Amino acid sequence: MKNDILKIENLKKHFGGVLAVDDCSFGVERGTITALIGPNGSGKTTVFNLISGVTKVDSGKILLNDLNIAHLQPSVISNLGISRVFQQSRLFGNLTVEENLMLAFDNEDQKFWASFLGDWWRKPASAKDTARQSKKQIIDEYLESMHITHMRDKQTRDLSFGQKRLVEILRALINPHNLLMLDEPVAGVTPELRDKIKKVLLELKAKGETILLIEHDMNFTLKVADWVIVMDAGQVIVEGIPDEIRHNPKVLEAYLD
Ligand SMILES: Nc1ncnc2c1ncn2[C@@H]1O[C@H](COP(=O)(O)OP(=O)(O)OP(=O)(O)O)[C@@H](O)[C@H]1O
Ligand SMILES: [Mg+2]
Repeated sequence: MKNDILKIENLKKHFGGVLAVDDCSFGVERGTITALIGPNGSGKTTVFNLISGVTKVDSGKILLNDLNIAHLQPSVISNLGISRVFQQSRLFGNLTVEENLMLAFDNEDQKFWASFLGDWWRKPASAKDTARQSKKQIIDEYLESMHITHMRDKQTRDLSFGQKRLVEILRALINPHNLLMLDEPVAGVTPELRDKIKKVLLELKAKGETILLIEHDMNFTLKVADWVIVMDAGQVIVEGIPDEIRHNPKVLEAYLD
């Protein structure tokens, strides 16, 4: 029996005549990196949007530790501990790296949800420490951990695409969470930064983080993921460990269509 932090059950979403997500079911095991892959338009980002509540679910369940979060508001879902990096960059270009990261800190709502949800809702260290340490200090530590302290006072519009991705990952990390979701973290990123992001994700897993990631770069995905879920036309067509996915004819067929 898998120890799933998140379970998707029979999820459906249509946009007009397009069935973007069609009876989709899968689980995300705690403490692992799970990859959601599939050809363009197969419904991956829509699944992320449904999980984070920015798109309304037609039918089906999204269970976060057995609590059905389908139909909750995005702010509530975020406060329940789902942190996300979007496919398109969402940094404030005229703010510095530090200022962008400052915006990621928790708010009073989380104390309410923590008391409501009880023990399983574990606040990560960054949030617990907020009272003791200054936010600036925490940001410094995060920047240091990724060796990007030199970027702290730069406006994010002056960063490279890959550097922005790193800052976005940091922002999602600072936001207290139990599940980190990344939509194409290395798309358009240079090979060096791609390696750095890979290292960062593996270090996060070693610290006990649970990560759900969408990525087209197969080389990256099959190296970093413990479990791979393949979507095509809104459905999960196959799932397994990277070695099984690499040679699966159904996967090749989906990408060749
Ligand atoms: N807001 C929307 N309105 C109408 N159609 C949408 C909307 N969002 C997604 N779709 C459609 O739903 C389908 C799934 O799109 P989605 O963005 O989830 O795919 P994806 O797997 O993330 O693709 P990619 O790999 O290109 O990012 C596509 O046919 C897309 O055009
Ligand atoms: Mg997408």
